[in-house]
Amino acid sequence: MTRQAVLDALAVDRQALLRHYRETRSRSVELCRPLAAEDYRIQTMDDVSPPWWNLGHTTWFFAKNVLERFSDYRFDDPGWEYVLNSYYEAHGERLPRPERGNVGRPTTEEIQRFRRDVDRRMEELVDGVGDDRADELSFLVTTGIHHEQQHQELLVTEIKHILGRNPAGLRRAYCPATRHSGATPPPLELVTFGEGLFETGNLEGGWCWDNELPVHKVYLAPYALANRLVTVGEYLEFIDDGGYRDPLLWLANGWERVESDGWEAPLYWERIDGSYRQWTLAGNRQLEPHEPVCHVSFYEADAFARWKSVRDGAWEGCRLPTEAEWEQAARLSGFDVGAGTFLESEAFHPRPATAGPGLQQAAGDLWEWTSSHYEAYPGYRPFDGDLMEYNGKFMDNQRVLRGGSCATPANHIRVSYRNFWAPSTRFQLTGIRLARSVSSS
Ligand SMILES: [Fe+2]
Repeated sequence: MTRQAVLDALAVDRQALLRHYRETRSRSVELCRPLAAEDYRIQTMDDVSPPWWNLGHTTWFFAKNVLERFSDYRFDDPGWEYVLNSYYEAHGERLPRPERGNVGRPTTEEIQRFRRDVDRRMEELVDGVGDDRADELSFLVTTGIHHEQQHQELLVTEIKHILGRNPAGLRRAYCPATRHSGATPPPLELVTFGEGLFETGNLEGGWCWDNELPVHKVYLAPYALANRLVTVGEYLEFIDDGGYRDPLLWLANGWERVESDGWEAPLYWERIDGSYRQWTLAGNRQLEPHEPVCHVSFYEADAFARWKSVRDGAWEGCRLPTEAEWEQAARLSGFDVGAGTFLESEAFHPRPATAGPGLQQAAGDLWEWTSSHYEAYPGYRPFDGDLMEYNGKFMDNQRVLRGGSCATPANHIRVSYRNFWAPSTRFQLTGIRLARSVSSS
């Protein structure tokens, strides 16, 4: 599908666009509702922005990319632009990222007023824009909505990090605990997929990020993907077998992190009296062996696959999937968004797999690390104008993740969606799906 076809597919239904806008904007505020005033301002590490900043920056995005372009709107105070710009060189100087937790202005109340003011202006604009610019406006508003949805996932994972920084005895749950069915997940098995030349990218059409285009063909040799995500119980076997103590299982950069950062378990696991507990947004909890293992870096996922390949004869040769393998397998499996655990569940925690054909848990629950480096597809063209900085300049030193998580809004994900993080990242909702090449003979 060409870029023009994507634009044409965005039939401008102003009321539908406004509903999508309002629903997204109010959800961001609701996600922060359980927080204390103090929680809004804390930055626990460079990657974690304080909640007030997410609320302000997503609003800045609409003001800068939509209101300034379509109206005479201008920021009263250039200091706000300085603070709320994330990484856009085209928009000038900005507050260094690690400083977001060190500023007290704008206040959280000022940010909330800023949101309401921009929302009022956006409503008037979408209602009143001429038909000749409706397509352009629809594209930019939709882009701003999806940008804010990305920040909703960040809000959840950053709030988890912020609340989890409190001493264990002072931590308060963000949400109620959800009950699982208690059913045992199906055995870990491989699902085989045939070789061929397949289209990859956003062939389903509709709005998408520039990094999902152009649709292009890739050849896949026969391969197999695991039917479900690796569980906590299976990951405990890796830990108990010395997985974090054997450098031969690790990429060099990963082993460096094991040593320098003292990794010995996934993030948020705490060893108390010989057994692990974990911090979740529903509070401190015992490990649940049937849940998918979560908060592992690419390096840990890769080391686990290597350990499984070496120690388990039935899984000899297993590895992480490439993103093209993952996408084709997920597409053939139906990529059932309705069956996945997404943000709307308000569980903010992955659920155990249930039995079924094809790939389970591909949509939602946890982002799945792939072995693919984040690169441009052949013929890639970034978005036009200021938004050209959105994705392209990050195509360096990152790995691709697929499928969405329990903090992703369900209407934000697609089978072609490409998430990306540095390989040492652990605070996102990330898990492991194994793969293996299959002999064609
Ligand atoms: Fe952003």
